[in-house]
Amino acid sequence: MTPSFSFPTVVYVDTDRRCPAFFSDPAVHRMVRRRRRYSDEPRVTFHHADYASRFGEEYRSFDLLISQWAGPVGQRCRRFLRPGGLLLANDSHGDASLAKLDPSYELAAVVNLRGGKHVVSEENLDRYFIPKSGERFTRRQVGESGRGVRYTRVPAMYLFVRRR
Ligand SMILES: C[S@@+](CC[C@H](N)C(=O)[O-])C[C@H]1O[C@@H](n2cnc3c(N)ncnc32)[C@H](O)[C@@H]1O
Repeated sequence: MTPSFSFPTVVYVDTDRRCPAFFSDPAVHRMVRRRRRYSDEPRVTFHHADYASRFGEEYRSFDLLISQWAGPVGQRCRRFLRPGGLLLANDSHGDASLAKLDPSYELAAVVNLRGGKHVVSEENLDRYFIPKSGERFTRRQVGESGRGVRYTRVPAMYLFVRRR
């Protein structure tokens, strides 16, 4: 629920059987209301669905996709992201690597943890995505492995922009 502390309108998608009870729990919604950093009423939508499905939202309507430890979200949900929208991804299941190899995304920044705070940097982006092994990977290889690539330099997260 932490995205709802910062963003008034958030759509969550998860197949886990425990999620419907969690997302309908009034205590969870009270916590979001208490911890939100904006004045609007929080708008939380939950779809108990596979993110590779249509799940009832408009294509090209999202400003931001968050992909953390949940598989190839940036690939399967790209159609929901508006051109110019952002993908915040880590590489736990290779999703950042897939975005880097995907011509519809461009690396815009990296996010690093410094002294307990997340710091966004747009500098020296060419120092990232250099495989330790020196090998080159294709989207197919990364997609099939379902795992991240070992790189010489690894930020906490990567931020991509969807090309127009
Ligand atoms: C390790 S958790 C991470 C959850 C969240 N992204 C976070 O950072 O706290 C992975 C979640 O992704 C969900 N998941 C994995 N594949 C999915 C899919 N194809 N569609 C919807 N949810 C999926 C799982 O049910 C699980 O709740």
